[in-house]
Amino acid sequence: MKKIQIAYERPSYRTREELNELRTNIQFCGDDKKVIVITSCTPGEGKTKTAINLSVSFAELQKNVLLIDADMRKSVMPKRLGIDGIDEGLSHFLSGQCALADTVMATNIPRLHILFGGVVVPNPTELLSSERFSSMLESFREVYDYIIIDSAPLGLVVDSSIIAKDTDGALLVIESGKVKYRLVQEVKRKLETADCSVLGVVLNKVDHKKNRGYYSKYYGKEYGSKKYGSYYGDLADKEKE
Ligand SMILES: Nc1ncnc2c1ncn2[C@@H]1O[C@H](COP(=O)(O)OP(=O)(O)OP(=O)(O)O)[C@@H](O)[C@H]1O
Ligand SMILES: [Mg+2]
Repeated sequence: MKKIQIAYERPSYRTREELNELRTNIQFCGDDKKVIVITSCTPGEGKTKTAINLSVSFAELQKNVLLIDADMRKSVMPKRLGIDGIDEGLSHFLSGQCALADTVMATNIPRLHILFGGVVVPNPTELLSSERFSSMLESFREVYDYIIIDSAPLGLVVDSSIIAKDTDGALLVIESGKVKYRLVQEVKRKLETADCSVLGVVLNKVDHKKNRGYYSKYYGKEYGSKKYGSYYGDLADKEKE
């Protein structure tokens, strides 16, 4: 297996604490929740950042983790992690151009493997609906403790609800103050129609100074006792790009 060096910037202490809480909440959803798709209502709410941080957080807990970049419409993960370009990724595998073994990469973070998206393709929905995708996830289940799948925003394209049917649950990333309640409900319904439970909601980019203690309570209430509310990420923590 090819090993790559990723440029991962450790989040602040506060964000790490919040990630630990998120990780613990996911663990308490049950040990049958190991394949998790990360989605959102609109673009740019923080799915990719959350997917990377959560994957590293699980790896640090001695779990074997595979991070899959399934946003084949706009794959930014290699650049985000300081990788120049990759030869073969998910789109190559799903279109039958390479073997699965050639696509998964080990990283400098122990126990964290990554499957990048590959080249941008015109037909991601078709590729993600294929039997190849489902059986790929089945085979990964045998190998990894957690499989975290980054995807495209569900308010915009159907990809993540297609992915969702093969997963054990979804994590909905919501940017604080950006998305209307009705759109969140719509996206939640789309996931449930795909027979995918919403494991939780991550409220991202919270201005802690303005909203101390408010949002986690609000979300906990809105999504009922089975779901959890978690706030995560600090604007002061803004990533340099
Ligand atoms: N908690 C946070 N604090 C500060 N900046 C953040 C936070 N989360 C994400 N960002 C920034 O917001 C931008 C969008 O984040 P990201 O790429 O993770 O979103 P996304 O939901 O994956 O977007 P897309 O829908 O385009 O794939 C990035 O510049 C990222 O660095
Ligand atoms: Mg993204």
